[in-house]
Amino acid sequence: MRGDHVIFRIPPRNLRYREIAKKREDRLAWWPRAVTQPFPRATAGTPLKVAAHGVATSNSLGFQTFMPSIFNTTIFGEQFDTDWHMQGGERATMLYLLNAVRPQVSVEIGTFRCGSLRPIAHLSKRVYTFDIDPNQHRAKTDFPNVEFVTGDTAVTLQPVIEMLSSGEDSLDFILIDGSHETEGVRIDIEACLRYHPRKSPCIIVMHDSSNPVVRQGIMAADWNGCPYVHGLDLDFVPGALYGRADIRNQIWGGLAVAVLLPEPRSGALEIQANFSHSLHAFDQFVHAEHRGE
Ligand SMILES: C[S@@+](CC[C@H](N)C(=O)[O-])C[C@H]1O[C@@H](n2cnc3c(N)ncnc32)[C@H](O)[C@@H]1O
Repeated sequence: MRGDHVIFRIPPRNLRYREIAKKREDRLAWWPRAVTQPFPRATAGTPLKVAAHGVATSNSLGFQTFMPSIFNTTIFGEQFDTDWHMQGGERATMLYLLNAVRPQVSVEIGTFRCGSLRPIAHLSKRVYTFDIDPNQHRAKTDFPNVEFVTGDTAVTLQPVIEMLSSGEDSLDFILIDGSHETEGVRIDIEACLRYHPRKSPCIIVMHDSSNPVVRQGIMAADWNGCPYVHGLDLDFVPGALYGRADIRNQIWGGLAVAVLLPEPRSGALEIQANFSHSLHAFDQFVHAEHRGE
């Protein structure tokens, strides 16, 4: 970060992307939180509460949501603090990537209550968002630059990816956060890997990459079969083992990130997974608890 500007780090040898990034730099002055918003102040004597990471509560509609916290409202601002089902580190990473890439076109799999769609739509020229549940597409009219595609992505995603692959505009950002079943995740990823970036890098972000079922789906996808994938990190942001009642002893969260470039890679793809050891330790802990040790 330099002042308010975020610089997209480019591999030093890759001069073409440096040029692209240079052009983008003048568009990077934006930062998510409107700095004009006054910071909420605690009055003297206000007792401090310990923030329980991801404590679930119900809003007036009866949905499970995440308790608004001082971190969300001050750091992300209210415009991005509505029903976004990601933790702070995941949100910060998403915002950094979106701000750095400033996508011409983005794809989001898993609209849900438009939580992640808000920043994606704000920072992309055009967005396609997918959800199997038509209820999640009620807010259509709030997003003039977004096309809402309703249905199972096993059917709906591939035609859109192929259409984008042969179109003029570049698909620069994809969030995969739809099906959380192994096969569903694999199918979504493989549909995305049919995209051939022709002008600029395409960043694929996969949520809940620490969840064992989702992770299996990510690992089952044919990454090596796609020549444009140059990097895959399963633990770009690691997830956590939860203690709260509804998901006790389950691992959720985490962002995996893949980078696709226009030219084919040479050699096999190296996959990074720095937190596999921690996830394995979580697993052993859970099994020990089940055995009552
Ligand atoms: C975890 S939520 C997405 C959360 C959202 N990205 C956010 O961060 O606020 C997952 C969404 O994916 C949708 N979904 C699940 N399986 C799907 C499928 N096969 N095709 C399309 N959407 C699916 C669900 O209906 C749900 O709304």
